[in-house]
Amino acid sequence: MTMLTKPFLLALCAWAAGSLAVPAPAPSASASLEQCPGYKASNVRQTRHSLTADLKLAGKPCNTYGKDLENLVLKVSYDTDTRLHVQIYDRDEEVYQVPESVFPRPKVTDGARRPALKFDYTKNPFSFKVSRRDTGEVLFDSSASNLVFQSQYVRLRTELPQEPNLYGLGEHSDPLRLPTDNYTRTIWNRDSYGIPERSNLYGTHPIYVDHRGKKGTHGVFLLNSNGMDIKINRTTDGQQYLEYNTIGGIIDLYFFAGPSPKDVAKQYAEVAGLPAMQPYWGFGFHQCRYGYRDIFDVAEVVYNYSQAGIPLETMWTDIDYMYRRRTFTNDPERFPLPKIRALVDYLHDHDQHYIVMTDPAMSKSDNPAYNRGLERGIFLKDADGSEYEGVVWPGVTVYPDWFNPDTQDWWTNEFSIFYNRDTGIDIDGLWIDMNEPSNFCDWPCEDPEQYVEDNDLPPAPPPVRENPRPLPGFPDVFQPPSSHSKRASQSRKGKKIGLEGRDLLTPPYAIQNEYGPLSQKTIDTDLVHAGEGYVEYDVHSLYGTMMSMASRVAMLARRPTVRPLVITRSTFAGAGAHVGHWLGDNLSTWEHYRISIAQMLAFASIFQIPMVGSDVCGFGGNVTETLCARWAQLGAFYPFFRNHNEIGSISQEFYRWETTTEAAKKAIDIRYRLLDYAYTQFHHQTVTGEPWLQPLFYVYPNDPNTYGIDTQFFYGDSILVSPVTDEDATSVDAYFPDDLWYDWYTGKPLRGQGKKVTLDNIDYTTIPIHIRGGSIIPVRASSANTTTALRKKPFHLIIAPGRDGSAKGSLYLDDGNSLHQKATLELDFYYKNGLLRLSGKFGFNAQVNVESITLLGQKAKPKTVKADNADADVEFNGERESVTIKTKLSLDKPVELTIQ
Ligand code: NOJ
Repeated sequence: MTMLTKPFLLALCAWAAGSLAVPAPAPSASASLEQCPGYKASNVRQTRHSLTADLKLAGKPCNTYGKDLENLVLKVSYDTDTRLHVQIYDRDEEVYQVPESVFPRPKVTDGARRPALKFDYTKNPFSFKVSRRDTGEVLFDSSASNLVFQSQYVRLRTELPQEPNLYGLGEHSDPLRLPTDNYTRTIWNRDSYGIPERSNLYGTHPIYVDHRGKKGTHGVFLLNSNGMDIKINRTTDGQQYLEYNTIGGIIDLYFFAGPSPKDVAKQYAEVAGLPAMQPYWGFGFHQCRYGYRDIFDVAEVVYNYSQAGIPLETMWTDIDYMYRRRTFTNDPERFPLPKIRALVDYLHDHDQHYIVMTDPAMSKSDNPAYNRGLERGIFLKDADGSEYEGVVWPGVTVYPDWFNPDTQDWWTNEFSIFYNRDTGIDIDGLWIDMNEPSNFCDWPCEDPEQYVEDNDLPPAPPPVRENPRPLPGFPDVFQPPSSHSKRASQSRKGKKIGLEGRDLLTPPYAIQNEYGPLSQKTIDTDLVHAGEGYVEYDVHSLYGTMMSMASRVAMLARRPTVRPLVITRSTFAGAGAHVGHWLGDNLSTWEHYRISIAQMLAFASIFQIPMVGSDVCGFGGNVTETLCARWAQLGAFYPFFRNHNEIGSISQEFYRWETTTEAAKKAIDIRYRLLDYAYTQFHHQTVTGEPWLQPLFYVYPNDPNTYGIDTQFFYGDSILVSPVTDEDATSVDAYFPDDLWYDWYTGKPLRGQGKKVTLDNIDYTTIPIHIRGGSIIPVRASSANTTTALRKKPFHLIIAPGRDGSAKGSLYLDDGNSLHQKATLELDFYYKNGLLRLSGKFGFNAQVNVESITLLGQKAKPKTVKADNADADVEFNGERESVTIKTKLSLDKPVELTIQ
């Protein structure tokens, strides 16, 4: 196991049983909370775009979880027509607020002209409502319980309609539509092996989407990085509510008016930032595992993929390559630099890529990167000024303080030295991990050295192999000994932001952190950061995103003109502007296969981190041939598609089993043919915030049957994916909204009637896919072994007319790699009544044409087909009810095609 080592489990049990010296959580104080006096508003000032008021504690303080703050400020801003910003903060502005450097606030220029939302308030006790101006629909109403604003606790509750459709509030592994009864979403970043349900996981995304069908959809984002419990429940008299309980920070709420789910996504992107565009190759298939024993093992996997005929775009290496698991080092015996370089060169010669792991915690051993960091004083410090120590893979470690103004420079410099072909390893992308940050040492971590001894860290590396297998076609260093060269032998103080006197380790309100105390399995929450002097208690959940930002900058410093592919485990709201995310340590179970869809949808469509995917075939535990086969197909529809596995689990590269090999080949074939369609839609999200990967209700917001579906999804606007969800099953009950659908494989139309349809005879190498009527999908005419080769394939258009006979689609193409594109190709396709039009912006030269077109849903062969007045060849397939046209449409000018 990655994280829950046996001693740790024992310690956790001991802690649960109360036998360790960890303070018990504070007793429930709900009774006294109800006696809190609330606030009284006065001095209300209103302009066209804003409202401010003073809020004064309305009675005797109740001091439940810290001290009641006497004087608050209410600030309301009609930022835009669709966004309302409501802040409640302390008058003296001592309370921590999320730093601008991590979460830059949107600039408000003119304010709203015709705001869709309306803010109303009651003076005493103070409460507020947000409603829709046109319909009066109340979206948020805090009147049923008093606002509580204390030094270590803030509570705000809103009433909701019964059984609301709520989504978001990540990171979690619960259903996409959140439970509404007795449900607590705790948010506090945590290394969460096994991604348990109803638990806080790696990231913080306090945004929810409230979908009310025909009454519209809105979003509510609480910009707050403190630990929190968000409770969704009913009062004893049946009133449905959602309640924020945070242990710090301010109330900083953004309301997004929608009214459609996609509108909410776009409006959230205006605040959280648009996601970063990814390189074209990043959408290829990636192979990884923890536990490749040496560079031969890694090379052999590359070789085996090619022998099996499964396209492999990128090979990854986990911490195994490091010398005793130390960041910025390599194991000279198992992963000597010349051999790594030979493999990377080989990969590059074959248009493939290479990525390795980077952990933030630095081993406290004498190594150059650590020494340089020490010299610059960039590691987090204890109260006495010494480096704060924890324990991660390499043993005792120290942690970079991303708030220290020198840390970026140090990090960038280490990248320039270690991720460099001449002095280290040339990587194409980056993988960052353990950045919650994770710490194996139980809190309070008094003797990390002792902890390492007791826990046998790091895991002993496997013995060096004497006789690697020959890999024909690979450089000499990968051939058996005769031909390869010999292996080398061998209580704190600091400037405080926030309130004095807070208990930063065991706050009086204990959030329901799965690990118990806040500092358990992470760094101490009373650590003081450099620079502004933020305390870990407040900024803990920013660590992963700050590392992500610094890593993107460091990657750009190496290659300033290239889009960096950075995949992180820990995230905070807005991280998608910098990085992608994999969903951490799932298990090789059907349950985790299924839940990966809901998790992916939450990140892609709500949190604006569309480069996302789970470990395909599952990380922990042993996968079966059939689960891995199904997962290979599902993973082919994740934006980020990587097979990854834990040390100690059986090997699960796709070529290990026959069925999985075939399933992966077929799935990758489809993925690659659709890659430009996906790239187009992904790019669109990076420009507009409109999510490309969507739950069904994003596309059919008025169909209540879609609201709870989270095992089917839209891959772009036009493709509905309905994976088989159960073990040993060869059928799936899939929902088809009332619309026209076409089977991807046969082209045959299916009339959706807003009912479930049993799709059967789905063998283990097939995933059900349907095209939504009304779509034109540009695909490559055939697939390829790499994305580089794929880009040389001609295009084929699939026209799937909707019920009104029309269809549309688009194609975006660029060089696939440059951060700033000199020229782009942005095409729109439109079809109606036998006329296909291709128009747009013809900047980038695709160097290939559209060479064929299939028009679905046809009963007869057309008489003539003319492309720009020249006749084209036509074939009619009665069984498939489709027409295929062979013609050349160049992608450098507008074209019309008539089918009569
Ligand atoms: C934890 C990560 O979640 C996992 O993917 C990785 O394999 C291990 N750390 C080892 O680096």
